Amino acid sequence: MELPFAEAWKIKMVEPIKKSTREEREKWLAEAHNNIFMLKSEQVYIDLLTDSGTGAMSDRQWSALMMGDESYSGARSFFELKNMITKLTGFKNVIPTHQGRAAENVLFSYLVKPGNIIPGNAHFDTTKGHIESRKAFAIDVTTDEAKDTQLEVPFKGNVSLEKLEKVLKENKGNVPFMVLTVTNNTVGGQPVSMKNIRETAELCHKYDVPVVMDSARFAENAYFIKTREKGFENKTIKEIAKEMFSYVDGMTMSAKKDGLVNMGGFIATNKDEWYEGAKLFCIPFEGFLTYGGMNGRDMAALAVGLDENTEFDMLDTRIQQVQYLAKKLDEYGIPYQRPAGGHAIFVDADKVLTHVPKEEFPAQTLTCELYLEAGIRACEIGYILADRDPVTRENRFGGLDFVRLCIPRRVYTNNHMDVIAAALKNVYDRRESIKHGVRITWEAELMRHFTVQLERIK
Ligand code: F0G
Repeated sequence: MELPFAEAWKIKMVEPIKKSTREEREKWLAEAHNNIFMLKSEQVYIDLLTDSGTGAMSDRQWSALMMGDESYSGARSFFELKNMITKLTGFKNVIPTHQGRAAENVLFSYLVKPGNIIPGNAHFDTTKGHIESRKAFAIDVTTDEAKDTQLEVPFKGNVSLEKLEKVLKENKGNVPFMVLTVTNNTVGGQPVSMKNIRETAELCHKYDVPVVMDSARFAENAYFIKTREKGFENKTIKEIAKEMFSYVDGMTMSAKKDGLVNMGGFIATNKDEWYEGAKLFCIPFEGFLTYGGMNGRDMAALAVGLDENTEFDMLDTRIQQVQYLAKKLDEYGIPYQRPAGGHAIFVDADKVLTHVPKEEFPAQTLTCELYLEAGIRACEIGYILADRDPVTRENRFGGLDFVRLCIPRRVYTNNHMDVIAAALKNVYDRRESIKHGVRITWEAELMRHFTVQLERIK
């Protein structure tokens, strides 16, 4: 008999989690103004808010922590990290930052000027925030295939070369760079093919526009290239990652995802002028160039995390768990962005809560229902996160309205996946009775989803 699949690790330390009653959850959610970001973690049973900084470190990473060099400048831990990054990406200049958005802040402070146009395959919200707060414009050039949640294509995160070329043509001289996000978080953790990475970079370079890879989940992207794209079956994840980076000019990294650490990030590039320019912003915003917002010990643990998470077995364990959850949802007929993404399942809330109009935020409503049902904290990646148009101040209802079930790395077992699927099924079974959504009572001007306050419409 063929042996079944199992995790490529065993558990050495555990953290107890607690269930609650529906009554308690009703009270807590009301106190949180129906915004799950405002809940206390102890009010949550299974936390699927994000895969960012929520993973479990390995014994090798914990031991690396003990060896951290906390020197203000020239720390050995910095060079361990820098050498690992150069080995994996080919980029020789490295600036550590405290997380991904800090890398964006430092690099964009140098690169972005008011009025600039920055195309990308669905910029993550902090990326868009760092562009728009500088009075520049983020233009989405993701393939239209990503909008059809039921369409099964292997690389739904791809860039539409036609859309990209149109932006490049119409804005000659005003595009400081393009952002290529792998995997494409906003459309469902969907990967970008090697062919598309190469062609995107070639097209940008034809117009003299450099490419920044937003690499938060680059290793998961490499896994999909290996398992889905012809010609890469026999390459290692490390070889594939190196090739991905070889086409682009630099990267920003949130190490809290594929770096397997709880906090950290960096910029890496071979463009010396970018390095020199960004350096000037690193020192006042983040810190000296050999720590830039990270402890020595954290850089040491990140160096190990990057090494571990670019091994096939680690990624196979993770992505098969996400696919296990997807199979359960298939069994129950619950619609989500197909195929399952690398780090999450994106439930198509518009197709679940068909009686809730978009003005009442179906995905946010479903997020609240799932929490009330079982204490599971998912996250809205939809109309609230999309913010308002910076010019018209209208809600942006043009995109998709998802509930993201985001799976932390090496944290939950497949039994937890069974609970998540069952809870969602219970909500799905009573979807016809959910007729009203939520209304915003307070919101911030930018990145409103973190602090928005909402009330349930009765
Ligand atoms: N880029 C992408 C693609 C991301 O998903 C994130 C964060 C960032 C940049 C910013 O990195 O959080 O380290 O500052 N995404 C998290 C999420 C928050 O839940 O998807 P950061």
